[in-house]
Amino acid sequence: MAKILCSVAWPYANGPRHIGHVSGFGVPSDVFARYQRMAGNDVLMVSGSDEHGTAIQVQADREGLTPQQTADKYHRVIVEDLQALGLTYDLYTRTTTNNHTVVVQELFRALVDNGYVVPKTQMGAISPSTGRTLADRYIEGTCPICGYEGARGDQCDKCGNQLDPIDLINPRSRINGETPKFVQTEHFFLDLPSLAESLSAWLATREDWRPNVMNFSLQLLKDLKPRPITRDLDWGIPIPVEGWRDNPMKSIYVWFDAVIGYFSASIEWSRRVGDPEAWRQWWQNDEAKGYYFMGKDNITFHSVIWPGILLGANGQGDHGGSPSAYGILDLPTEVVSSEYLTMSGSKFSTSRHTVIYVRDFLREFGPDALRFFIAVAGPENQDSDFTWEEFVRRVNNELANEWGNLVNRSLSMAHKNNGAIPTPGELQPIDEELLALSRDSFFVVGDLLSKAKFKQAIGEAMRLVSAANKYLSDTEPWKLKSDPARRDTVLHTVLQVVSDANTLLTPFLPHSAQKVYEALGGEGVWAAQPEIREVSEEGNADYPILTGDYASQKAVWKSIPLEVGKPLDKPAPLFTKLDETLGQTGPEWSPIEQA
Ligand code: MF3
Ligand code: ZN
Repeated sequence: MAKILCSVAWPYANGPRHIGHVSGFGVPSDVFARYQRMAGNDVLMVSGSDEHGTAIQVQADREGLTPQQTADKYHRVIVEDLQALGLTYDLYTRTTTNNHTVVVQELFRALVDNGYVVPKTQMGAISPSTGRTLADRYIEGTCPICGYEGARGDQCDKCGNQLDPIDLINPRSRINGETPKFVQTEHFFLDLPSLAESLSAWLATREDWRPNVMNFSLQLLKDLKPRPITRDLDWGIPIPVEGWRDNPMKSIYVWFDAVIGYFSASIEWSRRVGDPEAWRQWWQNDEAKGYYFMGKDNITFHSVIWPGILLGANGQGDHGGSPSAYGILDLPTEVVSSEYLTMSGSKFSTSRHTVIYVRDFLREFGPDALRFFIAVAGPENQDSDFTWEEFVRRVNNELANEWGNLVNRSLSMAHKNNGAIPTPGELQPIDEELLALSRDSFFVVGDLLSKAKFKQAIGEAMRLVSAANKYLSDTEPWKLKSDPARRDTVLHTVLQVVSDANTLLTPFLPHSAQKVYEALGGEGVWAAQPEIREVSEEGNADYPILTGDYASQKAVWKSIPLEVGKPLDKPAPLFTKLDETLGQTGPEWSPIEQA
């Protein structure tokens, strides 16, 4: 039984999640975690809401709320979205807990002590009216290279060049239009050049990474510069250094604090389950593996910054040092990054109105339809486009016609003819062949899932479904009235394969898997679902977390022989077909704009 840490990117608590978000970090990580649990491994899946930094501050100003009120509001909304999608976090928490602050400050302090975090002065843009840092991407102006007027402080979208905000002509704040002031400001920097050799040595030992992540990371290592990890901002974790701690205008950079969340959440989870040292089994264990799931814009932070923080705090950077109070912590095993889900070509974005919220989507179509679409047509290895037409096609042709129909046909026949799981007679080669494919599928699909190759994995599972449909057309059990023994053998065979295929599809379609399991006479919880729990922490208002009891679910990654004679009810349809016109019009709440 291996220990598997499943670290899932922390969504910003600045709005409800759209389907682009959950296609990158949410569904892939849950499919992986569910598979690992079924395969008998001990999974710790952690994440939470990312609640500090400019993104939350800007949304708060927009809504006339404080940043904490904004985080409270959207943390709750996001928890509900993720729960509705069936994402099985052991703990989904937030970054504004006392626990998180303590852990972040300890690692920061260890980095300072070990000499991997150093103060430096730089020129920085601030908003003259608030005194807060204006992050590069919140500054807009004319590109000094191509003259494009809408260039951002970090890059020009027209000519693609990387920019420095100070180079922009006529710079202005995208938040309120004022002209930023450039001032000398002192900050702490993560001294990446003094971690370069140890980072390279570590990266060289990594195997099985998706090429997009590995190539990108190797590229980053070629040109490591010190990176500021504090900001002129009053919304963030205080800097744990004398003379800085009490300065309300300086705080730790949101990305530095967020990545540490994986570790602080593991500690919080340990406390909540009453075994405060339990986290060590996933963080201080050569046999444990840590998988990190995210969208591609997060790669840098997981393949370089987070490992750099860990090496430095462990005292394992280029000039050594001593470990933080937590001891030596393990670096990631694998960084699994998705590309973008686009909508008719453009990146999902709230501002451009190309947005489909998870909540609206689930209300109308349920969680498994979305999970299925993301698995078969999502942005696993390249950007992929969401269209309503494609969604309707996938749901109707694959989910309903192939899988739903197979389940329904075979259960209906067995219900009508036997009222129970039929008794098999002697097997013919055609039966043996299908059962062999079914047995093999556990190895094939399992191997792909363990390598985070989700698209291929569900493709192989659906291949078994097609083979079972073909088996029914070939054997025609509905014509076997005069040979009930053969008919029972065929029905038993196909029901066994339905049960096997249901197991293979459980990580992808956990809600319908529970129904199929029950329709086949199973009792109890086959695929567990996350629960929302209100918890409290001293000095803070109650807040919701996601957690769940996944250890006692019945789902296991192997063929479970059906119990002959188990009564079968008349089956209810598994998936309803979507109206074809939805593909042209979109739903009422997100109509396709007719050109
Ligand atoms: N909030 C970030 C985003 O949405 C992701 C943070 S992931 C973590 O892009 F590593 F920092 F936790
Ligand atoms: Zn330009």
